[in-house]
Amino acid sequence: MKLKKILIVGLSILLINKITVAQNNSAELNLMPVPYEVELADGQFRLDNTFCVGINNNDERIFKAALRMINILSGRTGICMERQFPDTTKVYKTWQMVISINRKGNLNADEDESYSLDVDENGISLKAETNIGAIRGLATLTQLIRADENGYYIPAVKIKDEPRFKWRGLLVDVCRHFIPVDVIKRNLDAMAAVKMNVLHWHLTEDQGFRIESKTFPKLHQLGSDGLYYTHEEIKDIVAYAADRGIRVMPEFDLPGHATGWLVGYPELASAPGPYSIERNWGIFSPTFDPTNEETYKFLDAFFKEMSELFPDKYWHIGGDENNGKQWNANQQIQDFMKKNNLPDNHALQNYFNIRLGKILAKYNKTMVGWYTDKQPDLGKDYVVQSWKGRSSLYESAKNGYRCLLSHGFYIDLVQSREYHYMNDPIPQDTILSDEVRDRILGGEATMWAEYVGAETIDSRIWPRTAAIAERLWSPGSVNNVDDMFRRLDIVSMQLEDYGLTHIKNYDMMLRRLANSYDITVLKNFVDVIQPIFTYDRKKYRRPKSFHPLTKVADAARPDPRVAREFDQRVSSLSVKDVNNEEIISSVTKMLDLWKNNHAQLQKLIKESPVLNEIETLSKDLSVCADIGLQAIDYMKKKLQPEQSWIDAQMEILKKAETPRGETELAITKSIKKLIEMTKKS
Ligand code: ACM
Repeated sequence: MKLKKILIVGLSILLINKITVAQNNSAELNLMPVPYEVELADGQFRLDNTFCVGINNNDERIFKAALRMINILSGRTGICMERQFPDTTKVYKTWQMVISINRKGNLNADEDESYSLDVDENGISLKAETNIGAIRGLATLTQLIRADENGYYIPAVKIKDEPRFKWRGLLVDVCRHFIPVDVIKRNLDAMAAVKMNVLHWHLTEDQGFRIESKTFPKLHQLGSDGLYYTHEEIKDIVAYAADRGIRVMPEFDLPGHATGWLVGYPELASAPGPYSIERNWGIFSPTFDPTNEETYKFLDAFFKEMSELFPDKYWHIGGDENNGKQWNANQQIQDFMKKNNLPDNHALQNYFNIRLGKILAKYNKTMVGWYTDKQPDLGKDYVVQSWKGRSSLYESAKNGYRCLLSHGFYIDLVQSREYHYMNDPIPQDTILSDEVRDRILGGEATMWAEYVGAETIDSRIWPRTAAIAERLWSPGSVNNVDDMFRRLDIVSMQLEDYGLTHIKNYDMMLRRLANSYDITVLKNFVDVIQPIFTYDRKKYRRPKSFHPLTKVADAARPDPRVAREFDQRVSSLSVKDVNNEEIISSVTKMLDLWKNNHAQLQKLIKESPVLNEIETLSKDLSVCADIGLQAIDYMKKKLQPEQSWIDAQMEILKKAETPRGETELAITKSIKKLIEMTKKS
C-alpha cells in the first residue's frame, strides 16, 4: 500500500503537524468528528455481498454494534450480504474485517475509548483496548462508505483516534414535554454515530415528574399527567445506551423546579399546598423544605429505589434557579437558618446539598449539579455543570472542582452551528494550568423542552449537536468552520439511517400547515426564516405547556441552510469578484424566487388560516428580495446609489427584521451586505 502522506513519528514532527494532516485528510473523508490522526492511502476496500465481519472475542456488546453497522452498510448500499451476522467462530480466512478488543469496557467516565482502524484493498482491521473504543471505530467506519461507478468502497486509510474530552453529553429534558421511549432511542443511536457518550436525562420538573416510583407512587401518579417512564422502560433505555457505549446520568432536580414532586407530596414543600402541575414556563416558587427531616428520609428512600435503576456513578441533583421565595416567607425556616448560622439562602441550599451528598454517598454516587454559585463545603467530588457563563467553569476548576461546560451549548436557544462549534471548553489560547485543565471533563449540549415535542425534538438536536460532538471529541485545532458546514450536511443525512426525523418531518409539517401535498411555495418561504431566539418568545405570547408545536415557528429550522447558502454566495461576491457572472446569476435567481413567492403564498394563506401569522413576514421577504435585486442592478451597471436610497432601504430592512409568528427572516443581513457592496460599484 503506497501512502499518500506518511507521518514520520519522531521528535522532529510536532503534534500540531499531525493534527493538521488529520484535518486535511479528514476533509476528503467527510468524517465527523475528525479523528486524532489520519493517514490516507491509495486504494480501496470494495464492499460486496461477500463482506464478512469477524470478532476475536465473544463480546455481546461488540457483536450487536457490528451487526448494526452491517445493517446500515447493507441498507445504504442495497447489497444483500451473504453473512449478515458477525462471525465469532474464528474461521479467520473468511473474514474481510477483523475486530479485535482486549477487554470489555466499563461504562465509566474514565474508560478507554481509543481505537485504530486500518483499511486496505484486502481488508479492514479495527483494534481497540475496549469494546467501547471499538464501537467508536465502527461509527467512523460507517461514515467512510463511498460510491463510484463500480459500486461501493471504503477508502484505504489508517486512523488512530481517541477523544479530547472524556465527557461528551446530551441533556434531554423530558419534563416540559414528554419524550417517548422510541425518540430517546433514536437519539441515542445518533449520539453514538458522532461518538457522544453521556445521556443526561432530566426527569423531574415543575411541569412533570417523568419516572415511575414504586416507593412513592403519588410522584408519577399525580405529577405526570400519565406521561412517565416505567421501571421496565428505564431499564430498557439504560441497556440500549450501554450497548452503544453511552452512560445514562439521571437528573432529579432539587430543591427548586420541584412542583412535579410536590403535587403528590405537598407536606415536603416549604409552603402549604396543595400543588398542581405547572402549565407555564419560567421559574416557580415550590421548593423542598430543607429544614424538615422528613425531606431527607423521603429522598433517601427515593434515591435508593432510583439507584437500582441507574448504574452510573454520576447523579445530577439539579440545584438551579431556586428563587428562595418560599424559604423567605417561612418563619420556621428563617428560625432554622438563624439557629444553624446559615446567613442566606445560598448557605441553606449548601446545607441541603451537603445532606444530599451524604445520602448519595451511601449509594456510591457522585453528585453533579447546576449549583455553581458557592460550594464551600460540597467536597471536591462534586462536579459543577457550568451553564450561566464560562467564568463559573474556570472559577470552579481553579477551586478544585471537576466541571462540565454547557454554557454555549444550549441548543434549545436555536443559535447557529458556528456559534456552538466555536464554543471550546479550553480554547487554543488558554492560559489555564494543566492541573486546572484536567478538571474540565468536557461538556453537554442541553435540549430543554419548552418548545419541542416528539415531532420536533430531533430537528432542534440535529444536526447542530454533531458540531458540538466534534468540538468535544476532536483536537482543538480542528476548527475550520466552512469545512464543518460541508461535513455536517453529509453527516446530517447519514443520521437519517437511525430513524431521526430532523429532515423528513420538515416536509410533513409543511404539508399539514399548507393542508396540501403541494408545499413548494410555503417551503420557499420557510426555508429562509428561523425561529426567534428562544428566550425572546415569551415577549410575544404567554408560554403555555399545551401550546401546539405544529406552527410555522416549529417547522422552521434554526440556522437554516438555504439562508446560509445565500449568505455564502453574497459574501463570496463581496470578497472575490463583484462581477462574477455565475454567482451574480445564482444570487439573482434566489432573490427572484423570493420576490415572486408572496403572491402565491397569499393564496395558500387564505385557505390555511394557521398561516395568517406569517402573512406580513412573507410580504417583507418579497420586499427585501426586491431591494437585493435593485442593489445587484446598481452593481451590474457600475452605478453608486444616492445615500438617501441606501438609508431608505436600510430602514425598510430594519422593519422587516421584526419577528412575526415567533419567526424572523434569516436573509436580511445578507441583503444589507449587498447594499454595502453598491457603495463600491
Ligand atoms: C438551567 O438552564 N436552568 C440549568
